[in-house]
Amino acid sequence: MSIRKVTEIKNLKGTDGGIKVELTPFLQKDLPEPLYSQLYHWIKREIEEGRLQPGTKMPSIRQLSIYLKISRNTVETAYQQLQSEGYLESVPKSGIWVAEMEEPFFHPTSIEQPMFPEWIPSSEVHVDFEYGNVDLEKFPLKNWKKCLADVVDQESGLLFQYGEKQGEYTLRQEISNYLLQSRGVRTTPEQILITAGTQASIALICQLLVLRERTVAMEDPGYNGVRSVLIDQGCLIEPVPLERDGLSVGHLQQSRAKAVYVTPSHQFPYGMVLSISKRMRLLKWAYQMDGYIIEDDYDGEFRYRGQPIPSLKSLDEKERVIYLGTFSKCFLPSVRLSFMVLPPSLMVQYSLNFANYNQSVSPIIQRAIALFMQSGEFEKHIRRMRKMYQRKHQFLLSCIHQHMGTRVEVVGEKSGLHILLKLKGITAPELIELGLSKGVKVYSPAQFWLHPNSETSSYIMLGFGGLSISEIEKGISLLASCLPVLED
Ligand SMILES: Cc1ncc(COP(=O)(O)O)c(C=O)c1O
Repeated sequence: MSIRKVTEIKNLKGTDGGIKVELTPFLQKDLPEPLYSQLYHWIKREIEEGRLQPGTKMPSIRQLSIYLKISRNTVETAYQQLQSEGYLESVPKSGIWVAEMEEPFFHPTSIEQPMFPEWIPSSEVHVDFEYGNVDLEKFPLKNWKKCLADVVDQESGLLFQYGEKQGEYTLRQEISNYLLQSRGVRTTPEQILITAGTQASIALICQLLVLRERTVAMEDPGYNGVRSVLIDQGCLIEPVPLERDGLSVGHLQQSRAKAVYVTPSHQFPYGMVLSISKRMRLLKWAYQMDGYIIEDDYDGEFRYRGQPIPSLKSLDEKERVIYLGTFSKCFLPSVRLSFMVLPPSLMVQYSLNFANYNQSVSPIIQRAIALFMQSGEFEKHIRRMRKMYQRKHQFLLSCIHQHMGTRVEVVGEKSGLHILLKLKGITAPELIELGLSKGVKVYSPAQFWLHPNSETSSYIMLGFGGLSISEIEKGISLLASCLPVLED
C-alpha cells in the first residue's frame, strides 16, 4: 500500500472559534538536521501546499512540545523562524496563527509528491470529471427510501438474520427476469450468485476455476480494478491488445490462457463494442479450449448509438461464459451489489466449495432492490437514466466540438458514462495540472495499461455521469482554454 504522507494534521474546533490543530510531523532524532529545523521545514511545507490554511490556530508551544515529546525550545525556535518569515503570526492574548498570505502559496508544481500531482483542496475544484459517479439529481430517492422502509416494515424476522448464502431468492428472480428482457440472457435464479462488487465476483471466479499460477488474458488497456484482483489471486496476466472492433482474438489464440476477462458491450476504457464476428470467434475459442470467458457487462444499459449487440452470454450455447453484472452504474455504487451468472457445472462447484461462506451483501439492501424492481420502478429508472445520460453525452460531445474542435479526438463515443480524449500538442499530466489551476479536475487513464508508455499519456478520461449540463459546459470550456493552439 502506498503511504500518502507520513504526517497527519488533525483539525479540531478551538473554543475561540479558530481551528486548532494537532500536528504530527515525522521528526527523526538521528538525522543530522536539528529537530527545530525539521519542524520548521515541515510546517512551512504544510502552509505552502495549502494543508495548513491561513487563519488556522497553531497549538501553543507548550502543547506541541508535550504532544511531540520534544523540548519547548525546539518548538519555540521553529515558530520564531516561521514568524520572522511571515508564515505565522503571534496575536497577543490569542495565540499563534497561520498568517494570511498576499499571494496563495499553493503551486501544484511545487509539491514534492509526484504520485499525487492532482492534489488540490477540494473547495477549489469546480468541475470534477471523475469516472464512476452517477447522476443523483434524477435519482428516485423517495421511492428507494420507501422500498427500504417497506421491506423492514413487512418483515416477519428472517430479514434480520444472515440471509440466503447465494443471495436473496426474490432478488435473484428479479435479476433473471431483467437479464432476459434487457440483455437477452436466459438464466434461472439458481444460476445467479449475489456478490458485494465486481472485484468480489472476480476473486470467487479465481477460486472456482483454480486460476492460481494460471494465465488469464485480459484486454490491455483494461479495468485495473479487475487486474489487481487477478494478480493478487496469483494469476499470470496475458495482456491482449485491442483492435478497432475490440480485443484481438488472434492474439488470445496464440496465448496459453484458458480464461479471458472482457468488457464486450463497452470496452473499458476505450469504449468500443466487440463486433458480432469477434463474439462468435471468441466463443469458438472457448469451446475449443474448454476455456472460460468472463463477460463484464458493467454499463450495458447505457448505449446511445448503433444497434444493440447481444451479450456474449446470450450467444453462448455451451456454458462457457460467466456473466458479471453490477448495480453500480444502473442504480447506485453505494449499494455494493453485483451478481454473476454461473454455468451449472460451476454452480455445483460453488455449492460444494463455498458451503460455509455467508452472503456479504445485506439482505435488507437485497430485498429492497428486489421490491424496487418488482414495483416497476427499476425499469422506469433505467429508461429515465438512459435518456438523461444520452443527453449529457450528446451535450458533452457538442461542447468538445465547439470549444476544442480538432485539438482533440474523441475516443469511444457511443455509450457508457465516460469518454477518452486523445490530446494533441500537450500531455495528460500537463493538461491535468493546467486544468487544476482553473478548477477543473480530469484524469489520466494510464493506470489501465499494464505497461503505461508515452502513447498512454496522450489520453485523458472524462467521466460525466455525476455532472450537470452546466458543469459540463463550464468544465469543457475551461479545459479548452488550457489546450495549445495548433498550427495547421
Ligand atoms: C469495467 C468495470 N467493471 C465493473 C465496474 C463496477 O464495479 P463494482 O461492481 O465493484 O462497483 C466498474 C466500475 O467502475 C468498471 O469500470
